[in-house]
Amino acid sequence: MTPLQLSRRLLPYLKPYFWPYFVVALFCMVAYSATSGAVPYLVRSLVDDIFEARDESMLRMLPGVIVAVFTVRALLNFGQAYLSEWVGQHIVFDLREALQRRVLHLPLSYLDKAATGNIVARINTDVLLVRQALTEGVAAMIRDTTTVVVLLLVVFYLDPVLALIGFVGLPSVVIPLQTLSRRMRKLSQRGLASLGGLSSLLQESIQGSRVVKAFGMEEYEARRFIEENERLMRLSLRAARIQAFTAPMMEVLSAFAIAALLYYGGLSVLAGGRSTGSFLAFLTAAVLIYEPVKKLIRTNNVVQTGLGAATRVFELLDLDVESSGAENSVKIEALRDAVRWENVSFSYDKERVLDSVNLEMKAGEVLALVGPSGGGKSTLADLLPRFYEVDEGRVSFDGIDVRDIDLRSLRALIAVVTQQTFLFNDTIRNNIAYGLDDCSETAIRAAAAAANAAGFIESFSGGYDTVVGEMGVQLSGGQRQRLAIARALLKDAPILILDEATSSLDTESERLVQSAIDRLMHGRSSLVIAHRLSTVRRADRIAVVDAGRIVASGTHEELLESSDLYRRLYEIQFQDGHGDDAEQAEDA
Ligand SMILES: Nc1ncnc2c1ncn2[C@@H]1O[C@H](COP(=O)(O)OP(=O)(O)OP(=O)(O)O)[C@@H](O)[C@H]1O
Ligand SMILES: [Mg+2]
Repeated sequence: MTPLQLSRRLLPYLKPYFWPYFVVALFCMVAYSATSGAVPYLVRSLVDDIFEARDESMLRMLPGVIVAVFTVRALLNFGQAYLSEWVGQHIVFDLREALQRRVLHLPLSYLDKAATGNIVARINTDVLLVRQALTEGVAAMIRDTTTVVVLLLVVFYLDPVLALIGFVGLPSVVIPLQTLSRRMRKLSQRGLASLGGLSSLLQESIQGSRVVKAFGMEEYEARRFIEENERLMRLSLRAARIQAFTAPMMEVLSAFAIAALLYYGGLSVLAGGRSTGSFLAFLTAAVLIYEPVKKLIRTNNVVQTGLGAATRVFELLDLDVESSGAENSVKIEALRDAVRWENVSFSYDKERVLDSVNLEMKAGEVLALVGPSGGGKSTLADLLPRFYEVDEGRVSFDGIDVRDIDLRSLRALIAVVTQQTFLFNDTIRNNIAYGLDDCSETAIRAAAAAANAAGFIESFSGGYDTVVGEMGVQLSGGQRQRLAIARALLKDAPILILDEATSSLDTESERLVQSAIDRLMHGRSSLVIAHRLSTVRRADRIAVVDAGRIVASGTHEELLESSDLYRRLYEIQFQDGHGDDAEQAEDA
């Protein structure tokens, strides 16, 4: 995006606060600087009037006037500082809200590949720079441009010929400034990207601290960090060089202008063409322009940095969100007939993960998917709540393409227990009742009991108020699973997707989790990715998934007869009822 396009998209964020907040802030700013000039003048004239005229009545007024003037100044100062911050914080608020909302609705296919730190940095840091460009930038532009324009008018009015001479050099300033601006914008973008990388690295090394420690990789992680850290520093220094360079460059260039003016103007004064007084007046005005121009250039750097950040902010804001359903999308309330995968092909990237799959799950039945690791079982399940969209074919719900179903109503029908259980850094109660606004304590406790989780929850001193730590790290694997099951039970959706986690549980926990699962499946249509014999046995139908295809399906007995792969899986995975250990051995 060009700077102009960027500005055009940014200004609407300032607009809601432009009047009266921003305008009043601006007024305070201008009035405050105006009084700064007036104060010495005022004091001088007062003192002269008093002491020259020996006027005692004036002296009596003096303290009051001084206090009044400084009070007004204080109010103006407060007004400009607080109001511009007020506007800025509201812009930050709006932008962050818009960004987070966008992120929540991004498709998984994007989020899978995105570095968390990079997204987080855009919402945390970039927004601040955008805000700075908008509030400080716009304010300073208005203030300083006004000053410059007024002074220019004065200069041209005083002496148009000299004024022209003074400004022939102007293009030689503008062109390098443009180049520097572009560089500044690019550098800001790259610096922010690097900052995002830095947060990603940090996040990973903290979340993965157990692995880092176990493999003694502290030094390696430190080196990775240093690399990115150094890149960031170099980029920042380059930006700082540009920033430090612009003011001196201006100074040198204006020296040329002033030298030319002095020489040419001086000659004409000596020759009698100009009066000394008007020449000096002109020079004063010309020199006065210098300060606001210098400020404008400094502001320009802030604005360019902000525009670089804005590019990144809009990149995120412009991403396509997952469609909430086709235009005339249907709201569904129950599954009456069946879910069907019809000729479904799917790939995450280039490689096909599912290849013309045909599969059916009838209402009320338990369909189990079994098969070697990486075969596509979880992917098949993920297509049902439309976590991903098919490349070819369709997934249908009572004959309706899931893409034509209102996304909220579709997902409301499905409870998912994922392969990697995810818990929020919140209380056990809130983790179980996730997504349910008004949920009675009794219901939460009943769900926990049905998931065989009530026992361990009540053994904690905090009970249901126990906070489980990020991703539930303060719980054991089996406890986490049972909370995830309780969560699905409480949602009480007619369709259940259960990606049985493969973590190895001891016999007792497995029995507990298994009986929780049995209760969960009761009376629902369930798609179970099964790693346990008991689940497979209980299934009405079993489909064997291998390398993205359904290679066989039927009941347990039928498959034992008809499918070599199933028989082999059965022998190594399910035989002793502790399939998990065997499967992990195979994975390794
Ligand atoms: N988010 C993703 N992005 C890219 N590729 C993926 C993603 N998730 C899975 N894959 C790939 O898709 C293939 C199928 O994965 P899937 O998770 O469906 O297998 P699975 O049958 O569930 O295996 P497991 O029994 O180990 O859970 C694998 O080759 C995997 O590498
Ligand atoms: Mg899986």
